[in-house]
Amino acid sequence: MKFEKKSVAIALGLIFLVIGGLLVYFLQQKMRPVLKLDATSRDLGQVEEGKDLAASFLFSNEGFKPLEIFDVKTDCGCTDLSWKSVRIEPGKSSKLTVRIDTAMKQGLVTKQIRFASNDPDMSFGSLNMQVEVENLHENLTVGGRAKIFSDEKCAHCHVDMGVGAFGKELYDADCAMCHRPGKESKILVGPELEKGDFSDADYLKHVRQVISFGSKTHKSMPGFLDAAGGPLAKEQVESLVDYLKGLKKP
Ligand code: HEC
Ligand code: HEC
Repeated sequence: MKFEKKSVAIALGLIFLVIGGLLVYFLQQKMRPVLKLDATSRDLGQVEEGKDLAASFLFSNEGFKPLEIFDVKTDCGCTDLSWKSVRIEPGKSSKLTVRIDTAMKQGLVTKQIRFASNDPDMSFGSLNMQVEVENLHENLTVGGRAKIFSDEKCAHCHVDMGVGAFGKELYDADCAMCHRPGKESKILVGPELEKGDFSDADYLKHVRQVISFGSKTHKSMPGFLDAAGGPLAKEQVESLVDYLKGLKKP
């Protein structure tokens, strides 16, 4: 009898110890901000170029102390500005909306958002979004290439930016995509004209001819002059010739 009482007391003591320990552990876990995210990455699938997209991430505070999110940084300027820093009370949540503008983009587009928080387990965090923008160049036929100026979908990238522009600005908008290796397009489609030598009068004539009426040998270089079905006035073509001619030779 006595012995039984003693073991019951020990058993109860042990149980209280375990419960107490768990309670302390639980409080330790909770007596601080606890950030829970509904997702850390979003795949927006495939879209057409030009679409404006939005995705959101839900930040919840599952702790017993206020959660601070700060230093919210993006590589795109695509987030809600009020989200530079936010405070989320215990048990509450807040939604961060991110926008992706797919204008002038092609292929895989990714965005990253980084932030800092006062949750000791998540001092720094990052969120990722990606979208696959339809690439209109895949399987381009000869007939398809001819639509570069007429099809609205193509004109958006190949014509619109150059409207009313002259010289370098026009070159940047309409020509650089094929004639300059760049951040957006790593493929050099045509010769790197800005590094060429334009001191020869015959070559200059050839250049004016190709810009105006296109290449006789290569379908990817269309004639840009309005009289040849292109988007540019004669003065604009001249301004391009002048721009190339005026470049300093390396
Ligand atoms: C999102 C902007 C964008 C759109 C839309 C676009 N292009 Fe392009 N295009 C470019 C860029 C940038 C290049 C330079 C090469 C590259 O990065 O792929 C290029 C290159 C080209 C080339 C030369 C490369 C090749 O494959 O011969 C052709 C021809 C062309 N585009 C035609 C078109 C046609 C036709 C359309 C419409 C069906 C179109 N493009 C729509 C941006 C665009
Ligand atoms: C869609 C791609 C594309 C665009 C846009 C484009 N070009 Fe071209 N361009 C080419 C290709 C490809 C060639 C090479 C043609 C060949 O081999 O005959 C070329 C050739 C040329 C040449 C002849 C160079 C030589 O040495 O024979 C000139 C000049 C030229 N382009 C100027 C321009 C200018 C100026 C613009 C902007 C108004 C422009 N191109 C826009 C693709 C393009």
